[in-house]
Amino acid sequence: MSKGKASKGFVVWLTGLSGSGKSTLAQALCEKLEAAGLPIERLDGDVMRGVFPNTGFTKAARDEHIRRVGFMASRLEHHGVIVVASFISPYREARDFVRGLCKNFVEVYVKTSIEECRRRDVKGLYKKAADGQISGFTGLDDPYEEPLTPEVVIETEKLTLEKSVDKMLQYLKEHRRID
Ligand code: ADX
Repeated sequence: MSKGKASKGFVVWLTGLSGSGKSTLAQALCEKLEAAGLPIERLDGDVMRGVFPNTGFTKAARDEHIRRVGFMASRLEHHGVIVVASFISPYREARDFVRGLCKNFVEVYVKTSIEECRRRDVKGLYKKAADGQISGFTGLDDPYEEPLTPEVVIETEKLTLEKSVDKMLQYLKEHRRID
């Protein structure tokens, strides 16, 4: 990647279960793109929900949330910013709505099995769901609709973090999003 070149915006949209590794991958990808001097904005589910704390987890609430952040992503992209977004975004239709708003939409399916997410349980939420303290948890008693034709699939149980980031960068290079 050559440093400081004018860039065309695009949106890298990471979708997957809670604890699948979306935020970690997003962070690592951003570091690489930033090091190349490219303008980046990171949008993350937990961060956005901190800013808009009344966002719920019903289908309607999740859809509205995804449409809101998706619109934001598309506006940033329009102004030449590279957006790296990490949201469970469990519904195919909502993800496709965002795809439709964006010019260059790169859907990355962070494919980690529910067993592995449950084993990692970074935030302790799978345990809470198992104990009945949370209901409507994605992948347990709420749906996750897998992407059918994502641009990139990252199987975090098979690839290291470094190799996963390389795979995303490789896609972006091959499709001339970055040099
Ligand atoms: S999305 O479904 O609306 O796209 P988003 O990515 O913003 O979700 O936020 C998901 C995060 O909210 C999870 O990683 C987890 O920390 C937290 N969370 C709390 N309750 C739930 C739930 N019922 N289902 C999924 N995630 C939940």
